[in-house]
Amino acid sequence: MIIVKGLQKRYGSIQAVDHVSLEIPTGHIFGLLGPNGAGKSTSISIMTGLIDADGGSVELDGLEPKSMKARYNIGLVPQSIALYEELTALDNLAFFASLYSLTPDVKSSRIDWALQFVGLQDRANDRVSEFSGGMKRRLNLAASLLHDPDYIFMDEPTAGVDPQSRNKLFDNVMELKELGKTIIYTTHYMEEAQKLCDRVGIIDHGKLLALGTVNELLHQYGGDTKLSISSEKGVKSFSSANVSEDLTNALRDIDKVYDISMNRPDLEAVFLNLTGRQLRD
Ligand SMILES: Nc1ncnc2c1ncn2[C@@H]1O[C@H](COP(=O)(O)OP(=O)(O)OP(=O)(O)O)[C@@H](O)[C@H]1O
Ligand SMILES: [Mg+2]
Repeated sequence: MIIVKGLQKRYGSIQAVDHVSLEIPTGHIFGLLGPNGAGKSTSISIMTGLIDADGGSVELDGLEPKSMKARYNIGLVPQSIALYEELTALDNLAFFASLYSLTPDVKSSRIDWALQFVGLQDRANDRVSEFSGGMKRRLNLAASLLHDPDYIFMDEPTAGVDPQSRNKLFDNVMELKELGKTIIYTTHYMEEAQKLCDRVGIIDHGKLLALGTVNELLHQYGGDTKLSISSEKGVKSFSSANVSEDLTNALRDIDKVYDISMNRPDLEAVFLNLTGRQLRD
């Protein structure tokens, strides 16, 4: 379990992280959702022990992120791809594996597993410079998993990724969850958060504006569903906070329904209602 309390970080006049508190149960996928500059990467850097906070605390199963024991249990998939372009995929993984005190046997079996996991086993001996953006992202993920960490922080893992690699990365995230891993996933694609995450936090200007399951956030901040019924009486469109009840009532005095369309609020609507702005410009 990850417990974050009152986290703060300032850069000059910018409050990058502003009293962020949250809890992430073991085995959950937690999505940190927010626009450019919201404070996602800074929060992750603090939670993984890369930088110090000005205030507040982070505990991973009761351990500080900077402690040796916690560090060996953290996998970080950084937002900017951290790979050696001139080395092969295999040599990159061998390098990252050498940062952990793995025995040669474990090391080579973990590298094999990681390559297989991200679907790059047949590209093992190719240089990273020959890889597509999506393949680099997948290798970036593989590099973070060599020491089999329980906590995996993925900072915009799908940025600049083709649909095929994106789907592979989604599958990987779900597989890691099935392995019992706890995943912290940042993105500004709300459809990713909606699809993958058990719980979501919405962050803007360093502040956590809302926290909950996708359904809770949609219910609390999403606003009404837009319904439209086309029938022999014409088209009737209306907003509804209670779809099943309003739909049943509306259909009561209609003999023949041609079509019903329903536009449910999404996380984009949640963000708009919370901030008055679109999540993406
Ligand atoms: N090392 C730094 N020095 C100065 N300012 C910084 C530094 N790192 C981050 N910031 C500022 O802190 C704020 C939060 O940045 P951060 O990178 O955490 O946002 P983000 O949510 O990850 O954005 P993005 O979606 O663009 O990756 C921004 O205003 C950024 O300019
Ligand atoms: Mg970032």
